[in-house]
Amino acid sequence: MKLLERVILNAQSYQKRIVLPEGIEPRTLRATEIILNENIARIFLLGNPVEIVQAAEECGVNIKGAVLVDPKTDSRRDAYADVMVEIRKSKGLTKEEALEMLNDPLVFAPMMIKCGDADGEIAGAINATGDVLRPAFQFVKTMPGVSVVSGAFLMFVNDPHFGHDGILVFADCAVMPDPTDQQLAEIAVSTAKTAKAIVGLDPRVAMLSFSTKGSAQHPLVDKVVNATNIARQLDPDLIIDGELQLDAALIPEVGKLKAPESEVAGRANVLVFPGLEAANIGYKLVQRLSQAEAIGPVLQGMAAPINDLSRGCSVSDIVNMVAITCNQAAALFD
Ligand code: ACO
Repeated sequence: MKLLERVILNAQSYQKRIVLPEGIEPRTLRATEIILNENIARIFLLGNPVEIVQAAEECGVNIKGAVLVDPKTDSRRDAYADVMVEIRKSKGLTKEEALEMLNDPLVFAPMMIKCGDADGEIAGAINATGDVLRPAFQFVKTMPGVSVVSGAFLMFVNDPHFGHDGILVFADCAVMPDPTDQQLAEIAVSTAKTAKAIVGLDPRVAMLSFSTKGSAQHPLVDKVVNATNIARQLDPDLIIDGELQLDAALIPEVGKLKAPESEVAGRANVLVFPGLEAANIGYKLVQRLSQAEAIGPVLQGMAAPINDLSRGCSVSDIVNMVAITCNQAAALFD
């Protein structure tokens, strides 16, 4: 069975509650119809219900079965505001400020999750990554033992010799512009977990650089070496190696030549890039030049699954991300 089919089948059995804050956005509404028809998840659409119904009619989609929630009038606002004030008391957030913030669906959605009224969130079809993530960071926060949220992409390439039958996981393609050694190590550990939980593969993690095993000397190389060592301490069972160049990580002959002792070189299935610039450009290069399918970013390290869409996303990207989010919620909460 193909990976996405398995992810969707799992989601159908979990019946998680997913909140979509961009309730009048046409692709979101089309995806909602598919998700409800295929029984993939229970859906909350945020916004003014009259406007949501009108937008659905204009798109010609049936969203019967979705629960429409108006952040501006919902009866839970007061309780959510109290929780927000408590979480942000060291920052001096007042109740009035919290109530004002709750008018924004991108704040109301994570508060539904925080207060147990939803299991996951997906947004970003019409909002920038930072605007989706900031309220999630502030109110849902990271899971215990993790200080940094990062974003992985599941990459489906056409040659099955690469990765796990042509599936690789890349990170961090979405969040941390310039991670420290410690943050890069945490990104590696989180990405291995995502690869195992969603793809079901045994992770072999390559910490990428422009150097392999000391072939270049530079502080940027030292950072990757340090991060590799920290990741080994964080998870002693993790199969990880670095620093490795991309060809040494993926091509068996090059791996043998440049890092003959490595368990990872030549057969990596998880690629951890040294920074956001390389990772974001790297995944898009693979996606566009080799017609690979890229699914994500799957956000990892958050205390609850909240995922960000690319503004160029398609309806099927949204459906797939909802299914993945349901799988993440099951891995976290069930
Ligand atoms: N993990 C956990 N918490 C975080 C993280 C993180 N990675 N980053 C920031 N935070 C927290 C901070 O600790 C802070 O919490 P506090 O208010 O309780 O102190 C809060 O979030 C806000 O922190 P700022 O430093 O003010 O973060 P800012 O809002 O400036 O930036 C952001 C965070 C928006 C995610 C920034 O790192 C960013 O813009 N990253 C790039 C996103 C992007 O554009 N990606 C590429 C596009 S995505 C794509 O192509 C798929």
